[in-house]
Amino acid sequence: MSQLCGIWGRPYIDLDGVLDTSGFTEIDREISLALPDLEVSYTGGSLKWMNVVAPWVQDDGYADLGQVVGGFDRDEFARFVSFADDPGVFDHERFREYTFGDETDHPLSRRQMLYLKYRHGVYFPWKVCYHLLENDRWEDKHSGAGKRFAESAERLLPKTVAFVRGLPFTEIGRVVLFGIEANDHAPMHRDSEPGKTLTVPHSISLDPRGNKRFVLTDPQRERLVEVESRAYWFNDMDYHGVEADPFFRYSIRVDGVFDSKWLSALRRRLGG
Ligand SMILES: [Fe+2]
Repeated sequence: MSQLCGIWGRPYIDLDGVLDTSGFTEIDREISLALPDLEVSYTGGSLKWMNVVAPWVQDDGYADLGQVVGGFDRDEFARFVSFADDPGVFDHERFREYTFGDETDHPLSRRQMLYLKYRHGVYFPWKVCYHLLENDRWEDKHSGAGKRFAESAERLLPKTVAFVRGLPFTEIGRVVLFGIEANDHAPMHRDSEPGKTLTVPHSISLDPRGNKRFVLTDPQRERLVEVESRAYWFNDMDYHGVEADPFFRYSIRVDGVFDSKWLSALRRRLGG
């Protein structure tokens, strides 16, 4: 039997049909029109270094940002930080002490990402990442305190923002569009470690086009589940990733705290 953590005995919770997704065609249109004008970024380049990938991903041949930068000598470090937005803050003598990228004190500049890609072959699975609502740190992604939607999101994605605001959360801590370029894939990884929290972190993922092959698997790879839903809640303690396809795909992930009444009604409805 499956060793997926899942939710309520299911591999994931299908919310298409629970939520009103009738506006998804319009939302997809809005997003497609906005993307050329949004400031997007690369993300996910250091999943191996963060030690969150599935064991078989570690030696898949894709260069990892943390591992590559960790191997720099002083000269290459100096070259690399010359592409930062704030090159003056780095003491080259202490080059071994710095960490870069997602969830560190030194997020990469666009130029640094491109340099790592062009010079060192670093693979960034999500090359089109845009925060509609920003979290500062991974740990605060479920808390809405002091947060608001980005001005660019309010301006260019009003229907999308209205839809997200209508989701059954009492607070929203993070809203991110994750886009994957043609032929790219997202490696199997997990966002939280099984056993660390008592409840499954609350999130809703939206795939308005319904064409993103988002997959879940267990640590032994006995079962591979493709999520065939345009709106879903999955247990991010399960290894998950996105299969490569010959076209651009995206989804929007919303993290927060579910309305408890909605959650119990959903559980009753699903018999979980
Ligand atoms: Fe993830």
